[in-house]
Amino acid sequence: MLRQALLSAAKSTRLKKVVSTVPVSASIVTRFVAGETLDEAVEATRKLVVDGLQVSLDHLGEDTHDREQADKITQSYLTLLERLGRAGLTRGAEVSVKLSAVGQALGAEGEKIATENLQAIALAAHNAGTTVTVDMEDHTTIDSTLGILADVRRDFPQTGAVLQSYLYRTEADCRDLAYEGSRVRLCKGAYDEPASVAYQKDADVDRAYVRCLKILMAGRGYPMVATHDPRLIEIAGALATRHGRSKGSYEYQMLYGVRPDEQRRLAGLGETVRVYVPYGEDWYGYLVRRLAERPANIAFFLRSLVTR
Ligand code: FDA
Repeated sequence: MLRQALLSAAKSTRLKKVVSTVPVSASIVTRFVAGETLDEAVEATRKLVVDGLQVSLDHLGEDTHDREQADKITQSYLTLLERLGRAGLTRGAEVSVKLSAVGQALGAEGEKIATENLQAIALAAHNAGTTVTVDMEDHTTIDSTLGILADVRRDFPQTGAVLQSYLYRTEADCRDLAYEGSRVRLCKGAYDEPASVAYQKDADVDRAYVRCLKILMAGRGYPMVATHDPRLIEIAGALATRHGRSKGSYEYQMLYGVRPDEQRRLAGLGETVRVYVPYGEDWYGYLVRRLAERPANIAFFLRSLVTR
């Protein structure tokens, strides 16, 4: 119930206005968001890379409603990639992109605009010596996102996909994408999806995650195990061993600010661990989804509203 209420709140523009008055310096924001500026994002990346972690940077923004904004966000990614290249960070850092931020929802032209913008970002990443992963959003966008990804992968095969284990369709999508060179990030899924398309019970989502992991680890692609769940992390390691995968032929991924000790523990064992680092002014929707994942964060959040 609380999770659903929070996920609806993530889309509320009225609440967004109130919550966005929380200063970005409030500890609940800085715990999950690297900052509002490019400089802060690059600095956070540098610190993580020094600690032996890899990074995927997300320029926050979703639900872009006009072409100008879509192009502006695309340009931010081009600038980011150029800065990462100049700072010598592209061996350890890539970028994550939401297609809704680069124009996917702009009516009949949306898919074309998002494809062109993603292509421009993938080219900039390629030139900088790194990669892009395309985040997955709510279920109504999945066919479109996988279609755009297939187009862009023709020129930039290293472009990563994201699949969400809470959806009934995902095992089949895992089979389709478990081919040589295919980078697939598997997560549980962060949106409020109906029972017609998604498992509703945590245990079912976890079981589906294991089935998907089995397909990806047995396949020929590059699985990216995006979870903080200790049991699933252990199962992923066991499956990698069972399928004779060496360290570096798959990776773990976690969010900035979530289980940082575990991130470092796995990296210390020689595993590849990538931290998803969001930054930018439009942090509201992202932050509320993180709160929905862990109600214990809410008290912390409410304190930052009253003590500002
Ligand atoms: P679960 O939520 O069961 O958490 C397991 C444990 O992790 C908790 O018990 C707690 O200890 C810790 N934990 C998890 N979330 C926490 C939080 N917010 N604060 C504090 N502790 C927390 N989703 C999506 O729909 N599309 C996408 O593109 C992506 N991309 C993505 C990239 C990466 C790198 C990650 C790690 C996750 C995503 N997600 C995502 C989000 C994902 O779908 C999911 O909502 C979260 O990862 C939480 O699920 P867990 O697998 O961690 O399990």
